[in-house]
Amino acid sequence: MSAGGGKPELVSTVAGLREVLDSARARGLRIGLVPTMGALHEGHLSLVRASRAECQLTVVSIYVNPTQFGPREDLEKYPRTLAADLAALAACGVELVFAPANAEMYPAGFDTWVEVGAAARPLEGECRPGHFRGVATVVLKLLNQVRPDAAYFGQKDYQQALVIRRMVEDLSVPVTVRVCPTVREPDGLAMSSRNRYLDAHERRRALVLWQSLSLAAGLVRQGERDAKAIVERMKALISAASGAAIDYVALVDPESLEPVARVERKTLAALAVRIGATRLIDNMLIE
Ligand code: PAJ
Repeated sequence: MSAGGGKPELVSTVAGLREVLDSARARGLRIGLVPTMGALHEGHLSLVRASRAECQLTVVSIYVNPTQFGPREDLEKYPRTLAADLAALAACGVELVFAPANAEMYPAGFDTWVEVGAAARPLEGECRPGHFRGVATVVLKLLNQVRPDAAYFGQKDYQQALVIRRMVEDLSVPVTVRVCPTVREPDGLAMSSRNRYLDAHERRRALVLWQSLSLAAGLVRQGERDAKAIVERMKALISAASGAAIDYVALVDPESLEPVARVERKTLAALAVRIGATRLIDNMLIE
């Protein structure tokens, strides 16, 4: 294992992982896990830093999980940039990277799934059937393989974090779940591995996600309470950007994800928009 600045150790099997982690655990080190699909950016690295601040050993998993992609989604073209990812993690002082092959995660005969409940149904769940089943299953596997003290997720994928929190509580998984703030580009666009798909033109249009969330927050600040009116204004702003197609725009309760009629307490504004062929999501908690 290397200290800060050195290259992270790269393991691709659960047996290899256990070898390193058993000795770390025996030495009483607190272990943090940051699950990712690679193509790392500052959003991912903020999770790494949060883990490094609280744990003596940080494991980053890099695995493009096929079971969370739908049949017409971007599994094949999802960016894979392992060399650059390892360099970025080395610069952050990460000790251990777990990058398993599909055969390691889903060997022949694999046949057990996490059945996710109500938190996984609306929003992303409606647009991407089976997505959270795949996410919950792979995250539970990673938690069992690494057995971290804490695991770090981003608010960028708000519903995902909610589904994982629920699973960890319901299945008594002995891990602390931490959710870290969304990291944005200077102009407000939430960082995402999928931003790489955008050409210069689309990159400018992609700003409508942030602009419509900011519009919602501004309207609430000015005293607007009617959720439908706010959503209509958000949709109008997005529709005005040519080449932007709305999957959903919603104001929901941050715990139940059920739509709210009026913004009287903390509310989650969440949206999914397709910019050309690229599907982007974002959200904002409005106080
Ligand atoms: P991925 O999209 O690679 O994201 C890995 C983690 O980074 C997630 O917890 C995500 O919420 C967080 N993240 C992404 N963009 C962020 C940003 N701009 N600011 C802060 N955090 C950000 O989410 C997944 O992978 C997968 O579903 C996974 C959990 C690894 C299971 O396969």
